Amino acid sequence: MIRSPNIWDTPDVYELENLASDRAGVIDRAVAALHPLAGADLLDVGCGSGFHLPRFAERGARVVGVEPHLPLVRRAANRLRARGSRARVLAGDAEALPLSAGSVDVVHARWAYFFGAGCEPGLAELSRVVRPGGVACLVDNDATRSTFGAWFSRAYPAYDPVAVQRFWDRQGFTTEALTIEWTFDRREDLEAVVRIELPPGAADAVLAEHEGLGVDYAVALRWRRY
Ligand SMILES: C[S@@+](CC[C@H](N)C(=O)[O-])C[C@H]1O[C@@H](n2cnc3c(N)ncnc32)[C@H](O)[C@@H]1O
Repeated sequence: MIRSPNIWDTPDVYELENLASDRAGVIDRAVAALHPLAGADLLDVGCGSGFHLPRFAERGARVVGVEPHLPLVRRAANRLRARGSRARVLAGDAEALPLSAGSVDVVHARWAYFFGAGCEPGLAELSRVVRPGGVACLVDNDATRSTFGAWFSRAYPAYDPVAVQRFWDRQGFTTEALTIEWTFDRREDLEAVVRIELPPGAADAVLAEHEGLGVDYAVALRWRRY
């Protein structure tokens, strides 16, 4: 499992990030365009605190989230209980999914950086669990475009988006360019979220130059049919 300081160390701030991210539902629409959700078996890999699980269940999918970090598994289970959601959450990781072969129609993995270079064992697991005709949708940020993309590439100069793209092309994934917005209700929430996503110096710099409550944010939706 790859440490995820943003959601592991500050899950309440990460919740603000999820609440601000893509209120218009651009990503959900793009996923649903690839496979109908109603009646589908949907797996959310690296589901964190389960933010996305109830929404997919409300759209008629049979939803299971898988997450390796146990405090987040508990948080997701509490969310589902509080919402009266039929979605389930299981402890596990992408490299050893606790699901049987051919049991999934739609895989969703959002901000799932464990799907990066060296993730072939996780991709093999997707091939095992997804039924023929199913689809895997990996939602990543796109550092080549948008205000957030510029912040990200300035903060992480070693990140090479060309190499990342080449990797996914080789794996047979199609990349769809989407643009979403972060829309916060309070400036202090935006600032707190920027501070969990960027190193301190980079966060200070972008917050000094960027006003307001919103940020445009480029997304790469990488998908593959099985
Ligand atoms: C940035 S968070 C995103 C959480 C969630 N997808 C969301 O959008 O709210 C990344 C998540 O991936 C989990 N993770 C890390 N390594 C993993 C692995 N090998 N397999 C599955 N999940 C993993 C982390 O524990 C964390 O919850």
